[in-house]
Amino acid sequence: METPLTRDAGIRVPLICGAMYPCSNPELVAAVSEAGAIGIVQPIALTYVHGHEFRAGLRLIKSVTAKPFGMNALIEDSSSIYRRRMEQWIAVALEEGVRFFVTSLGNPGWVVRMVEPVGGIVYHDVTERKWAEKGAAAGAKGFIAVNRRAGGHAGPRDAAALLAELSPFGLPVVAAGGVGTAEEFRAMLDLGYVGVQCGTRFIATSECLVSEHYKRAILAADEEDIVLSERITGVPVAVIRTPKVVRMGLHAGPFARWMFRGRRRKRWLRMWYALRSIRSLKLASLDPKGGDEYWQAGKSVAGITSIEPAGEIVRAFARAL
Ligand SMILES: Cc1cc2nc3c(=O)[nH]c(=O)nc-3n(C[C@H](O)[C@H](O)[C@H](O)COP(=O)(O)O)c2cc1C
Repeated sequence: METPLTRDAGIRVPLICGAMYPCSNPELVAAVSEAGAIGIVQPIALTYVHGHEFRAGLRLIKSVTAKPFGMNALIEDSSSIYRRRMEQWIAVALEEGVRFFVTSLGNPGWVVRMVEPVGGIVYHDVTERKWAEKGAAAGAKGFIAVNRRAGGHAGPRDAAALLAELSPFGLPVVAAGGVGTAEEFRAMLDLGYVGVQCGTRFIATSECLVSEHYKRAILAADEEDIVLSERITGVPVAVIRTPKVVRMGLHAGPFARWMFRGRRRKRWLRMWYALRSIRSLKLASLDPKGGDEYWQAGKSVAGITSIEPAGEIVRAFARAL
């Protein structure tokens, strides 16, 4: 099936394995791409969580597959050190042949300016019209429409409403959120999306290196077990309601809420949260004993009933086309 996404990304199946901190390891990215969809590298997961030097990690993927894979750039402008590091990673990715980039948060203009001259394409994650306006003005070539059922930072809209809101821009729109089965994949394409970005479905795979406890928690969870918590990053993130999540509560404390009210304070708090969550999410998802039950997942858990090779999932979805 050909769609603007398959053409832009150079793939066969209009399916993206979205970037996931900390779950995107190179073996998972490679398996998805090799099967005909596209895996997206999450640079901090690749380096800090899975321990690869950035270029070596990309080359590991290339040793498994000659097919295209992409890279995620979280571009929220929190510090100039981070921005410089992201620029270096993008430059290396371009040298290694990556041409498909997914940006999230912030203004993707500088990423577009870096990648377009060498034929790179940027799709920008959006949750509502105001972010799409920014992304389109900055030169994004497509949107990834993150709906209210998504894992990670879910948006406020359902899939149909979000597509209606984004269609007037005339750019390709990929659905993200709530797709765990081949039928749900097909339904998004029937709605008018040009493809689907899945996250949670690809955590429950044999290639994903998170703990078995995390994967089994996804299989066991139902839609109502997914709650939004502000406790880890300061903004709502979809997590499985485990005893630990219940104990911690879902809302940021009064101090954090006060900090978020001032512009300067907000910047510092964001940075503090980011550093803290980078460490704690890594520990929680890899811990082989599964003791630290802080696991991100979206409402697509409802349809996910088995741990499978990532390539099998891509093939099963492709059969639904
Ligand atoms: C554990 C987890 C981590 C994520 N981390 C990122 C990230 O680092 N960058 C990003 O752009 N999106 C991130 N996402 C969002 C996914 O790329 C994707 O859009 C989302 O998972 C789609 O919803 P689904 O989980 O219902 O399939 C994450 C999602 C999950 C579940």
